[in-house]
Order: sequence, then C-alpha cells, then structure tokens
Amino acid sequence: MSPYDFPTISSELGRSPEAAIDRNYYSRGAFVPPLPAIDGIDVNRLVREFGSPLFVFSERDLRAKARRAKEAFGSRYKKSAFAWSYKTNYLNAICRIFHTEGWLAEVVSDFEYEKARALGNPGKDIIFNGPHKPRAVLERALAEGALVHIDNWDELNLIEELARSLKKPVDVGIRVWLDCGIRPIWTKFGFALANGEAAHAAARVIKNPKLNLHTIHTHIGTYILAPEAYRTATQNLVALREQLLLEHDHLVPCLNLGGGIPSNSLLHGMAKPAEHVIHPIEDYAEAITGVLNNLPENRKPWLRMEMGRHLVDEAGYLLTSVVAMKGHDRPTPTTTDLSARTAKEWLLLQEDSKRGIVVDVGVNFLYTAAWFEIGVWPARLVNTPAIPTRLYGNLCMAIDVIRETVDLPTLDVGDVLTLHPVGAYNFTQSMQFIDYRPAVVLIADNGKPELIRRREILADINGPELLPARLARKT
Ligand SMILES: Cc1ncc(COP(=O)(O)O)c(C=O)c1O
Repeated sequence: MSPYDFPTISSELGRSPEAAIDRNYYSRGAFVPPLPAIDGIDVNRLVREFGSPLFVFSERDLRAKARRAKEAFGSRYKKSAFAWSYKTNYLNAICRIFHTEGWLAEVVSDFEYEKARALGNPGKDIIFNGPHKPRAVLERALAEGALVHIDNWDELNLIEELARSLKKPVDVGIRVWLDCGIRPIWTKFGFALANGEAAHAAARVIKNPKLNLHTIHTHIGTYILAPEAYRTATQNLVALREQLLLEHDHLVPCLNLGGGIPSNSLLHGMAKPAEHVIHPIEDYAEAITGVLNNLPENRKPWLRMEMGRHLVDEAGYLLTSVVAMKGHDRPTPTTTDLSARTAKEWLLLQEDSKRGIVVDVGVNFLYTAAWFEIGVWPARLVNTPAIPTRLYGNLCMAIDVIRETVDLPTLDVGDVLTLHPVGAYNFTQSMQFIDYRPAVVLIADNGKPELIRRREILADINGPELLPARLARKT
C-alpha cells in the first residue's frame, strides 16, 4: 500500500486558503489505514529486533529513485551526470548506495569532504560547494582534483593564491544566483547574475592560467514545486555561457543546475495528496533538457544535477512507539448553539477537545517537522473512528510537537507508529538533545534488514569531552 493513498483530507487548517476549503468536517473516514510493513518487513518485528525509535531506509526505494532520475535526464539528454548531496543524508551506507549507482559526491564542508574521501571517492568525483571552505581543505581539494565551485570574491582570492603553487591548472566552477521566478530568491550563495558580478568572476577565472572554468553552477532553492523555474534558470546559465564564449573565447564545458527537486511530501497547510502537488521528475528533466537540446550539437554542455531530498526522503521512515495517551475524556460542548456544524467544528478545532499521544521520539530527530506535514501511520488497523490528535514528542519541552493535529484512532501504549517521509535532512540535522540518537536500519534489496548505525550510547556523547582534573570527583 502506498502511504499516500489516504487521507486525502487534511485536518490541519494551515495557512493555505485552499486547504481550508478542502477540509471536510463531515466525512473524515471510518478508520486510519495502517502501515504494517516496510518492504515486506513487519514494522513491529523491526522494533522488536532493533528497538524503538528506529530510522528505517529502503534500499529498493533509494535505487529506484536514483535510476528513475538518471533515466529521466539521460533519456532526454545524453551528457547528463549526477551527484549525491551529502548533507541531505550522509549515512555511509546511503552514500555508498548512490555511489554504486554512479553518482558523484557533492559536499559543502571539510567534514563532508573528508567523509566523501574516506568512503573511497577520488577527488575528481567530488563537487565542492558551500559558502565557507576553510583554507586547509581547499588546498587538499585542489591538490586532489576535486571540482571546487567558487562562492564569493574572498574565496576566489584564496583560490588564486593557492593555485599559484599548483604545478598544473585545475578545473573550478563558479556558483551564481539568479531570479528564475522563485521567491524568496536564494541570494546568499554565489555571484549575482543580473548585475554582471558572475560574468566578472568568470572572466577572472578564465584569465588565470592556473584555473580552468569548467562549470557554471546554480542551486535555486529546495523543494521547488515549479519545473518552469528550472527552464528559466537553464536559459540564464546558457546565456552567461554564450556571453563568456563571445567575450573570452571560452566555452564552459559544464552547467550544473543544483538540487531542489521535491520529494512527495507536503508542507503544513497543503491539503491535497502529494501526487497532486508535486510534479514528476520527468517534468523537471524536460524543462532543463528542453533548453539544452535546442543548442547546436557541438555547443551542448555537460549537465550536472546535485540531488538530495528527491532521492532519499520517501525511502526514510521513523518508527516510534506510543508511550502515553492524554486527554481521553473530551469535555462536551458548553455552547448553547448545538447545530451539527458548530458542535462538530468545536470538536475538531477546540484546543481542549484535542486528544494527545506521546511517542518515544522528539523533534530533535525531526527537524523538518516544523515545515513538513509528516505522515503518521499506525502499524495495525484499529477499527475506531479517527479523532483529531496532537502528536507529542518525548522531549521535556513544550514545542516538541510532531503534528499539531493528525487524525488517529484510539491507540495503546506500545503501539508502533510510522512517521513518513523523513529520509531527507532529519538524520543529518538531528542532535542528542535530551536523548540518544536512534539506531538506523537499512532494508536491503534482498529484503533483509541490516543495522547501519547503532543507537548512540553515553560514550558517543562523552567521548569528545575533557573534564579538568580539578572538577573531577574525588572518590
Ligand atoms: C549546493 C547544493 N546542491 C544541492 C543541494 C540539494 O538540495 P535538495 O535536497 O533540495 O535537492 C543543496 C541543498 O541545499 C545545496 O546546497
């Protein structure tokens, strides 16, 4: 069963007027469909074997997404290449799955660069983005042949300085930001296109005998719902490339359109099923390659994409267990106007009427819950009507709410719930606030669950700490 088959009605009002209209007060369904298994493996069994809470990733989904993306672009445009955005999820097993599918590594810090190298990627298979690349790692990356995308003038100065001592010229890219109709515009990264800054930076690189301008890069944002924005971005990069050819006789070999392609997830307030909101990857491929395919054959650049959330979000699940039920005894309305609509609205909307469920995982592992409406799926079918419920995390902190309102049946302590999709950014942005980070299991292609990260223990947290002798307890 696809977790997106139901519910089609959001119980959250959100900020979208469309969501408000779509709410159906009188037909909320008789039960919440369960999610008993992931890739055929019973979720209760996973919790019994590996504990709760538990992150679970599906290798089948990861590979299917990677292959479909490759096909979408590759079938339209032969010179397509792909990089996996480490920050989205840098668990080693996950990165290796993408590398075995032929994806390069896209990294944004010394830590991620070292991780990519430690996983066996040669420098030439690493794209290095990010607004701050410390001198030491820049030196290493240039020496190892990684493709550094230059973000700003200070970084360009530093690279020019480092390049002086290089024996051979090195390939580099420049990052640009541009207006392709998306708001807000991400102006933090790269050189501005519109005012000529990007062309200036590119010219400086081209004129440097130790640097070879290999790539023009833009990453227009994340969870971009409009494929058309990529068409505009591609047209802009192509125009800059043509300008550089004309003015400097240098044909930049590669255009990199970044990431940003959404997963099938919904922001708070989006009432429709994700399939109605999210375009298929093929629409994005068509928008980008449509522009490139209009170029004469000998002028076609390499196209690179650096994807993150689209590839991994839906492959990731978080299993959690109910630890407490709250607010069972909902007070009856005291209003004198008990017309059906008023009474039902009261039941649905009033703060006091909301039942609460506390689970054993908190928003410290679900950073994206602030923006995304993460789906909640009981492991078993409970044949009682769904009731608007607030899903609380386990942290001792009032803002630890995973879902303000989600329709759930009456559950028992120990019931397992699956939160989905959660594969993008949640693990990498998680922190051991109050709690240890949970174990992570990968369900392999052959259907076998494999532990790819154990639950943390005290030593993981205490490891880097140093206790001055004067503060140590005297026994
Ligand atoms: C430079 C760069 N490329 C790619 C990505 C991946 O983005 P997404 O997860 O939206 O595909 C990011 C993430 O913000 C990024 O900063």
